[in-house]
Amino acid sequence: SLAAGAAVAQDDYPTQPITMVVPFSAGGPTDTVTRLIAEPMGKALGQQFVIQNVTGAGGTVAAGQVANAEPDGYTVLMHHIGMSTAPTLYPNLPYDPLEDFETIGLVTEVPMTIVARKDFPAETLQEMIDYVKEHADEVTLANAGIGAASQLCGMLFMDAIGTQLTTVPYPGTGPALTDLVGGQVDIMCDQTTNTTGQILGGEVKAYAVTAEERLANLPDVPTTAEAGLGDFQLRIWHGLYVPAGTDPAIVEKLSSALQTALQDQNVIDRFAELGTTVVSQDRATPEAHTEMLSSQIELWAPIIKAAGVTAE
Ligand code: MLT
Repeated sequence: SLAAGAAVAQDDYPTQPITMVVPFSAGGPTDTVTRLIAEPMGKALGQQFVIQNVTGAGGTVAAGQVANAEPDGYTVLMHHIGMSTAPTLYPNLPYDPLEDFETIGLVTEVPMTIVARKDFPAETLQEMIDYVKEHADEVTLANAGIGAASQLCGMLFMDAIGTQLTTVPYPGTGPALTDLVGGQVDIMCDQTTNTTGQILGGEVKAYAVTAEERLANLPDVPTTAEAGLGDFQLRIWHGLYVPAGTDPAIVEKLSSALQTALQDQNVIDRFAELGTTVVSQDRATPEAHTEMLSSQIELWAPIIKAAGVTAE
């Protein structure tokens, strides 16, 4: 019977490689976390994950594509905080993050860094803010499009200093960081998973980490509070999703593989080097992450509306 056939398919799952869609450029922070986690998840499931970078519209093109994919467990979305900001940023978003997906779980939380090209004429965050305010018509702020973590952070930063800048959108902060290193763009707020190497290598200037405390991997970079930005803090996060209607047994297998991957020593070590941490197992479940996603949507909606940012 059809029902028996479906049950067998779930028992066997996965019988072929699984595509993991990354909504931003290769080599950037989401891609980095995805590749780290996909390897041990694939091992746990006995199948490889094939990483596919689908860029555009601040991550919403990829999310829309996965929302419309077959709910068979072979297309998984790695996304981030943009899953919760996009519904407010995009009046015509073609998917609903809660209705059109099943969540697999939270993967990690990532602090951000406020960075500039290395010859930017300011040494401290306060000097940087003063300079930016005085030269608001010249300074450029890179981001990865409306819906990106860098866009949210940049929006909060501009709000905090009461100054609007010209934003330069990229398909991901991987290429944006390349331009920052090259001096084609001035400043950016980006995940430590992307910026740590260039900060430690002296290729960009770091003014602050958007965390409550200094980070073990970047001990010389002050917190936003220390650097004079009061309560400006932001911790972004990554989560895994499959299309709504995916069999609960498949969701369970993927979630269990995520739990296994979060205990992988290479993941733990690399995350620590990149300034991010493995989340506790109880937060990496479908139930806990659905709840988190829902409360994040509610948290960001009024803040984004107040900032007046909208995409077409
Ligand atoms: C990326 O992977 O490029 C980032 O997550 C972009 C962003 O959201 O700022």
